Amino acid sequence: MNSSPPKLVTTVAQLREELRAVRRAGKRIGLVPTMGALHEGHLSLVRAAAAECDYSVVSIYVNPSQFGPSEDLAKYPRTLHNDLALLAGCRTDLVFAPSDGEVYPRGHATWVEVGPVAAPLEGACRPGHFRGVATVVLKLFNMVQPDAAYFGQKDYQQALVIRRMAADLDVPVAVRVCPIVREPDGLAMSSRNRYLSPTARQRALVLWKGLQLAQELAAGGERNAAVIATRMREIIETAADARIDYIALVDPETLAPVDVVAGQTLVALAVKIENTRLIDNCLLEPGRLS
Ligand code: PAF
Repeated sequence: MNSSPPKLVTTVAQLREELRAVRRAGKRIGLVPTMGALHEGHLSLVRAAAAECDYSVVSIYVNPSQFGPSEDLAKYPRTLHNDLALLAGCRTDLVFAPSDGEVYPRGHATWVEVGPVAAPLEGACRPGHFRGVATVVLKLFNMVQPDAAYFGQKDYQQALVIRRMAADLDVPVAVRVCPIVREPDGLAMSSRNRYLSPTARQRALVLWKGLQLAQELAAGGERNAAVIATRMREIIETAADARIDYIALVDPETLAPVDVVAGQTLVALAVKIENTRLIDNCLLEPGRLS
């Protein structure tokens, strides 16, 4: 296994220079966009890119435009040195870690607004978030021009938004969505988990317990979405100071709310534990479960 750190570039000009020869050699290029503070969830995307592509680029950029004014932009973990060490153990060919000025040079004034799929859930709780995500991801797609790009299912709505954006704007990239990676006790891996105190880390397990309960209820034949959501709420509220932003049972393509779990249904939730906002989700497959 290659264990030397991948090459690091910080400007679009250097990136294009590196990729010119790769493209000329007819290699398939994979992109894993990240905000750094890498964990096993990211590394699973990197491995998927390495398995499917000849050349992998990981971008590391904490994108200010996707954070709201009262969100955690300033304290978001920046761990480039450690990220490069982690990537040395996976097959990554190039890391692109641009500055804010490189991504949003003076005068930048163009933004990407994605339609209805960006409106509910995270879109409703974090106004402007998906505008920032869609804009930076389109810019990364244009900078790298990957054949395939890799995202995690934990950010389920983000993946839908990016798929819609790429289809609508004719970006020739295959958007791959890889399964959620969980800690052994079920907590979905997230860069924000490192904000959790040991007590909050324990309390945060209620998200996974809520999702497991939804799966058990659906497997046992419960089809009433409101009943499932209420039971989830009860279990999540057992955690002291858990604040629920939403628990939603929705159509996995349109994100429209469902009343009856008749077909595949996305259960998505966002919960603040102490001051850390966590999201998680799972798909209910009633046909398969009952
Ligand atoms: O999922 C993330 O880490 C970010 O939203 C992304 C896709 C890298 C865009 O900044």
